[in-house]
Amino acid sequence: MTYGFFDDTRREYIIETPFTPLPWINYLGSNEFFGLISNTGGGYCFYRDAKLRRLTRYRYNNVPRDTGGRMYYIDDGTDIWSPTYLPAKVTLDTYRCRHGLGYTIFESSKNDIVSELTCFVPVEENCEINRLVIKNNSSSERDISVVSAIEFCLWNAADDGTNFQRNYNIGEVEIEDNIIFHKTEYRERRNHYAYYSVNCQTVGFDTDLDTFLGKFNNYESPQAVVNGKSGNTVAHGWSPMGSHRLEYSLSPGDEVEIIFILGYTELPKDEKWDGPAADGVINKNPAKEVINRYNSSESVKSELAALSEHWDKLLGNFIVKSEDEKLDRMVNIWNQYQCMTTFNMSRSASYYESGQGRGMGFRDSCQDLLGFVHMVPRRARERILDIAAIQFENGGAWHQYQPLTKRGNADAGMGFNDDPLWLIACTYAYIAETGDHTILDEPVPFENKEGTEKPLFDHLRASFNYTLNNLGPHKLPLIGRADWNDCLNLNCFSEEPGESFQTCANIESQAESVFIAGMFVLYGKQYAELCSKRGYHDEAAKATEAVEKMSEAVLKHGWDGEWFLRAYDSNGDKVGSKECRDGKIFIEPQGMCVMAGIGVESGHAGKALAAAKEHLTFKYGTCLVAPAYKEYLLNLGEITSYPPGYKENGSVFCHNNPWLSIAETVAGNAEEAFEIYSRICPAYIEDISDIHRTEPYVYSQTIAGQEAPTQGEAKNSWLTGTAAWTFVNVTQYLLGIHPELNGLQIKPCLPDRFDNITIKRVYRGVTYNISFIRSNEKGLWVNGSKIDSDIVPAAPEDSVVTVICRI
Ligand code: BGC
Ligand code: NOJ
Repeated sequence: MTYGFFDDTRREYIIETPFTPLPWINYLGSNEFFGLISNTGGGYCFYRDAKLRRLTRYRYNNVPRDTGGRMYYIDDGTDIWSPTYLPAKVTLDTYRCRHGLGYTIFESSKNDIVSELTCFVPVEENCEINRLVIKNNSSSERDISVVSAIEFCLWNAADDGTNFQRNYNIGEVEIEDNIIFHKTEYRERRNHYAYYSVNCQTVGFDTDLDTFLGKFNNYESPQAVVNGKSGNTVAHGWSPMGSHRLEYSLSPGDEVEIIFILGYTELPKDEKWDGPAADGVINKNPAKEVINRYNSSESVKSELAALSEHWDKLLGNFIVKSEDEKLDRMVNIWNQYQCMTTFNMSRSASYYESGQGRGMGFRDSCQDLLGFVHMVPRRARERILDIAAIQFENGGAWHQYQPLTKRGNADAGMGFNDDPLWLIACTYAYIAETGDHTILDEPVPFENKEGTEKPLFDHLRASFNYTLNNLGPHKLPLIGRADWNDCLNLNCFSEEPGESFQTCANIESQAESVFIAGMFVLYGKQYAELCSKRGYHDEAAKATEAVEKMSEAVLKHGWDGEWFLRAYDSNGDKVGSKECRDGKIFIEPQGMCVMAGIGVESGHAGKALAAAKEHLTFKYGTCLVAPAYKEYLLNLGEITSYPPGYKENGSVFCHNNPWLSIAETVAGNAEEAFEIYSRICPAYIEDISDIHRTEPYVYSQTIAGQEAPTQGEAKNSWLTGTAAWTFVNVTQYLLGIHPELNGLQIKPCLPDRFDNITIKRVYRGVTYNISFIRSNEKGLWVNGSKIDSDIVPAAPEDSVVTVICRI
């Protein structure tokens, strides 16, 4: 069952009912100001940091779900309804929500009044624009009133939801003309405020929530709306909000365009006030400048056009045209869009990440980069340098950093032993994409400490050595707190309810990870390549030797007979072995070791892939582990805390499915590689939206696994490393357009049914127009001539190169 459809021409997903199984959201914003918006107008806005600079309030586990956000009420004389369906909850005559790239449009109608609400954040501005157009489609004159409502968050979202003894005293606003200013804490240490404006003359307003709602009402039927009269209130503490009332008389066919702007202004300390600080009147000029800029129909239109161009540019570097529209829409639109969202948000703000929890994860950020480096290489470069700066001199790293301060986050700790190797992965990907080796010479401090700067290359060396300096009894890497699987906590032994499995005091043991061993082989080879390119030949040879030794150790001690083991626990016992009662086989080492090329020639790889297919794969994807754990096991930690079939305990943990698909391409199995890709790919499973439940245009972190009671049900949409890895999988391995240090390799691995594919790929400033043609004679023809390699030779910047790939 579906609840909408893809409109590829407009690059939109069009939702046809407010009654989606869960809120289906979109993101607004490209730089520093962001909004989350659901298909019923829910969500919130923030400036840069979803915890510390939240503009509007959103209650995560509210009942009913997803109330609050951008609220509009239209009183048409018969009914009072919302163009977003919520909060008024009055059945609409027509409803559509169009989620597009950086904007969302609601088209609704009731009683012959038609509304269109367009929500977006201009590319370079710190505000959200809501343009509401209302048209009288009836044959009589109609009196219409419109009431808007937003609830301000007192900036720090965590305090806002907890520290009420203080919060109820500090709220402050100013109202001037049609602009409501929210200035809580501005009198003291803040130099920023929010504003909510409308471009028409208001007939009333409210800033005090209690008056607006009236006793015992919720947003479904606020007193100010039901009574048709705003309170013109000035909030003093309690819950400051912003509401405008507008009234119109519309002749048949008439329409009115109303522009609301919710913005954020930050001022230099000495320009905070309009007069003496003691008068408390804020300097409103910068806000007014922004409002004046966007207050007209023309400027909104041109900003929307600019937004569309912004996305044309970002998505224009990879465009595929095949006979499979699902493939095209994922690659060209939604997968890349989701990659940019993970770039902007990391794991901070979604409908499942509260915006208050995690900072930027070390491994998450490195992997996200693989999915956006081709779109924003300059920003990828900055990101790499930020990440490397939270590394320690011994190569280890803080596991997270805060986006505002860029400092390591001591709460999240260190000692996740896969982290350092991801730095090699993303730096290599950046250089392969851009050819910019100068990044390796950039001085980067360790642990953000001034005076400790070393070229980025030294950080990579430290990463590589970190693994070698932390080997266990089988010469496999020690796992530390955890590797990629945050929930396989082999040194944790937590018995305290509520304790974080990731950060509680750990025991020191010799637990080893076969997964990190696979990573070391994969990224160690990349490190060796980087060494050679720099002329460090001895170092390259040593690295290669270490990689070979690790491969041998994996085949000797990390092989279980039919598949790769997962780990050795603190006791030296096997994890992920046929000898175990539960948790006999894990997906991660099968994917990672084969991706790294381990055992491909010897036949181990083929066996491992067959075992993964047999034991882990079912119709909704490939599960993380089987059999799932049935009881809590101290020596394994959080993974065993989840009910069987969910999260790390045997769901389809989508992030690692592309590893397996890539591994299948390494082994040359095009059909299965594509099956693995499409089984979890949103566009391919759109018609089971009722089972899948999360948005059909983006990946979710997990899909309930073969042992779960709710098989196929997805959770935690949007902010997942799945976005980057599936993009790498489909573009670099299935379609086979693979950036290497020496240039663009073209090596597709596609099922036979694919024919006649064309790809436009902009790479290092050159546009490659690539066509795949099925043919008996295989090979690459560049600008008409056959070449001997699968790497297209470099071409002058801005040139256009035609490549025919006969497959
Ligand atoms: C989740 C993991 C996540 C970790 C982060 C766990 O509860 O299951 O997916 O990586 O928290 O702290
Ligand atoms: C989500 C975390 O963000 C990521 O770092 C981790 O690798 C996966 N969960 C698997 O546990």
